[in-house]
Amino acid sequence: MAGSKRSSLHGQWSSRWAFVLAATGSAVGLGNIWKFPYITGENGGGAFVLVYLICIACIGIPIMMAEILIGRRGRRSPINTMRVLAREGHHHPAWQYLGWIGVLAGFLILSYYSVIAGWAMAYVFRAAGGMFSGATGEQIGALFTGLISDPERLLAWHTIFMVMTMIVVSRGVQSGLEKAVRFLMPALFLILVMLVGYAMSTGSFTAGIAFLFTPDFSKLTPAAVLIAMGHAFFTLSLGMGAIMVYGSYLPENASITQTSVIIALADTLVALMAGMAIFPIVFAHGLEPGAGPGLIFQTLPIAFGQMPGGAFFGTLFFVLLVFAAWTSAISLIEPAVAWLVENHGMTRVLASAWAGVITWVMGLGTIFSFNLWAEAKLFGKTFFDLLDFATANVILPLGGLFIALFATWTLSRKVTMEELGLQGAGYQLWYILTRYVAPLAVIFIFLNVTGLLRFG
Ligand code: TRP
Repeated sequence: MAGSKRSSLHGQWSSRWAFVLAATGSAVGLGNIWKFPYITGENGGGAFVLVYLICIACIGIPIMMAEILIGRRGRRSPINTMRVLAREGHHHPAWQYLGWIGVLAGFLILSYYSVIAGWAMAYVFRAAGGMFSGATGEQIGALFTGLISDPERLLAWHTIFMVMTMIVVSRGVQSGLEKAVRFLMPALFLILVMLVGYAMSTGSFTAGIAFLFTPDFSKLTPAAVLIAMGHAFFTLSLGMGAIMVYGSYLPENASITQTSVIIALADTLVALMAGMAIFPIVFAHGLEPGAGPGLIFQTLPIAFGQMPGGAFFGTLFFVLLVFAAWTSAISLIEPAVAWLVENHGMTRVLASAWAGVITWVMGLGTIFSFNLWAEAKLFGKTFFDLLDFATANVILPLGGLFIALFATWTLSRKVTMEELGLQGAGYQLWYILTRYVAPLAVIFIFLNVTGLLRFG
């Protein structure tokens, strides 16, 4: 019985805090600092942010709790956890496909995540070399275009980032990660505070804040609602088994509820701070909020180019961004690696090498999306756009939907109550949100965007 197997073959976190740090490391990444600002800019600001916040609270947190509890109950890679828990409860073996979809999603997301992390690495050296100092918005924009239109440079950074990621994964995510996250996360936070401070001096701080926090519902299209919901999954690392596999290394006595709330709050705070740093700069320099994936790379360097000590702080910022991306990337591939070790008896090193090579090759598609294949579009989207859309807005919400259903329709109340350590109204709240609210919200938003159902 999985219930009696109290620790994972792959080891355990040394404490509850180690888990909180690792899961926060997974959650806080490019999603918060790169993706959140640019999709907020593309989708009109305030109303989009509001929907995103509601999705975090009503869908994200309950599903995060469900993922962690399933992981800790199963104590295996997501594929085997789903298989074993379904078998124990005499449920359909097809539940294990949920684990498979998660592994696939992890490969797909990491393949482009690594390319974007490569941009951040390239920017470490640009900042350190003083290339931003005194540069205009136009010059910074040209610098960005120069980078993404060169496939060789993108490939070099993508390769370096993948190697960095697979080295950590091959050594086991418990060792090393914990120490790194402990001081890097606070450092990243401090530098964001500083950037928000700079944003206050631009003269457009109120315009930036108003853009982020004043909802204009006329800008809220059904597609924007879907993107906001998809991003709630993406930013919390939900819907593909990353948090599940981290949960499988969680000690027995740790509170799943508390840790989930802490992780979600920290993650949200970082995203909002990034927004508050970036939009005032956008408005102060007459830039376009809907500039797309290059937004932070075209705005923050302006700030670093003008503030005293900008070369130093800019370098530090991009170093920390690379670290944040790194601690996220390893969680994307851990479900696949854990499964290879469990089912194919591979060593972690070999499993990591395989997973890394596959992801690396897939990353070429994203690299070319910005140059050689920039004109090759399907539904008006490049390969990268399609990959991002399919994973964040379709696969992750679907994965999350089935995780929620599995936790509340398949697992018994006794099991979930025991794992969550909740009773009474607290448990009821989680149960209702996970059993009804989150799944219906996902379905409703899907139907709405496909036009089968229209509200608003
Ligand atoms: N949450 C991370 C970020 O915001 C990305 C990430 C890591 C992720 N693991 C994940 C996204 C699992 C979806 C699923 O940058």
